[in-house]
Amino acid sequence: MPDTLTIIDNRTGKRYEIPILYGTYPRHDAAIRGTDLRPIRASDEDFGLLSYDPAFLNTAACKSAITFIDGDRGILRYRGYPIEQLAEHSTYLETAYLLLHGELPTAAELEEWTREITHHTLIHESIKKFMDGFHYDAHPMGMLVSTVAALSTFYPEARNVNDPETRRRQIVRLIAKMPTIAAFAYRHRVGLPYAYPDNELSFTGNFLNMMFRMTEPKYRPDPVLERALDVLFILHADHEQNCSTNAMRNVGSSLADPYVCVAAAAAALYGPLHGGANEQVLRMLQEIGSKSRVPEYIARAKRGEFRLMGFGHRVYKNYDPRARILKEMAIRVLDITGRSPLLDLAMELERIALEDEYFVSRRLYPNVDFYSGIIYQAMGFPIEMFPVLFAIPRTAGWLAQWQEMLTDPEQRIARPRQIYVGPDARDYVPLDKRGGRAAATRGDDVGRVASVSDTTL
Ligand code: CMC
Repeated sequence: MPDTLTIIDNRTGKRYEIPILYGTYPRHDAAIRGTDLRPIRASDEDFGLLSYDPAFLNTAACKSAITFIDGDRGILRYRGYPIEQLAEHSTYLETAYLLLHGELPTAAELEEWTREITHHTLIHESIKKFMDGFHYDAHPMGMLVSTVAALSTFYPEARNVNDPETRRRQIVRLIAKMPTIAAFAYRHRVGLPYAYPDNELSFTGNFLNMMFRMTEPKYRPDPVLERALDVLFILHADHEQNCSTNAMRNVGSSLADPYVCVAAAAAALYGPLHGGANEQVLRMLQEIGSKSRVPEYIARAKRGEFRLMGFGHRVYKNYDPRARILKEMAIRVLDITGRSPLLDLAMELERIALEDEYFVSRRLYPNVDFYSGIIYQAMGFPIEMFPVLFAIPRTAGWLAQWQEMLTDPEQRIARPRQIYVGPDARDYVPLDKRGGRAAATRGDDVGRVASVSDTTL
């Protein structure tokens, strides 16, 4: 059987043969090129057939060798390595290296990579002053997004995105400085003096130091919490073509520098349907308050009053493998920090939802954000920091995807098409001829055209 698709255009009776492309696993990823639809025309004036796919429900925007997800089977792999193995054996910095370079580092490569990242954690004192300008109660994610964008003004050479060595330097800087900016945002908000990086500590140990160090001469992180944070960072490091990664690739495709690209990606992550969901999960659990109120809360979610935060996923139609690891981790971490009633509440919510026909039939399971917030809170992070804690490790994934996009000869500036549903050409109406009625008619016209086109689509 040839690997092609035959399309018959019933408007013209013409037949078209379109090649099918495959990824690594043919039965997993098969696609046709969108531009292969272009020759399908009803007339010579016709632009050619487009595929209409709002929110990219069924559109592959790139080929990628970084992350593999099988949402039906609950599989997640970075560069082929199962997430469970990385969570057990790897570190965040090693995983970041893997995502960016395609292979696990040798001992010497890992040592050099760690040394480089460790020596780029400081930020320019003027960046610190820039952060001083934020209002005392500014959301740390807003501070992070703006400050990362501001880094662009400190490293003008970063605009040279086609030079591999320049790219490499900015990648190191970004991975190294994200925790510093994140911790400074927190300290600014609570009015504590900034705590500078400690090069003797690990990536996550140092982050805990910059967050929580008070007057002690040397901050010593709890090794269990330091490792738990490292695992959380591994789990959040990449997740193929999600909303923020798509923003990173989109903005990067115009050849903007990586600082503003990461700022754009972090802005996309901030929303409550994406990385902001972990913050919303904690607020939701606090609002539910007690186990007895869980059924009533689920009933309201089913009535469509709101969504159960931390539930559901565009890709996973099975238990999110990251949530599985985090659920076990939550139990371990809370054994050290003290049991939180919110964990019991979350487990009850999960139990009842997973028995409910509404959630079962829609294949809605807990996602990565469901248990992560409970762990962060037990570690002492305030709720507003949760999306920031997502952005720090995701920076490695964004940068790996950005680099892959820039070096892919098939990629060009991202520019989707649209199906125009607005008014047809019409003549400009001078201001003195536009009455209230004209405005109403104008609105009606647009509405009518749109609804006719909606049904046609
Ligand atoms: N609670 C209740 N119903 C839901 C939920 C939910 N959390 N998620 C989806 N549904 C329902 C939805 O109402 C729809 O029902 P119906 O077919 O009757 O209209 C059906 O399930 C399909 O939902 P959808 O909106 O078409 O799914 P989507 O793929 O567009 O959205 C999602 C995916 C993650 C945005 C969505 O599940 C959601 O809003 N979840 C809550 C927010 C959340 O936890 N986000 C974190 C995602 S994981 C981490 C990340 O990537 O950032």
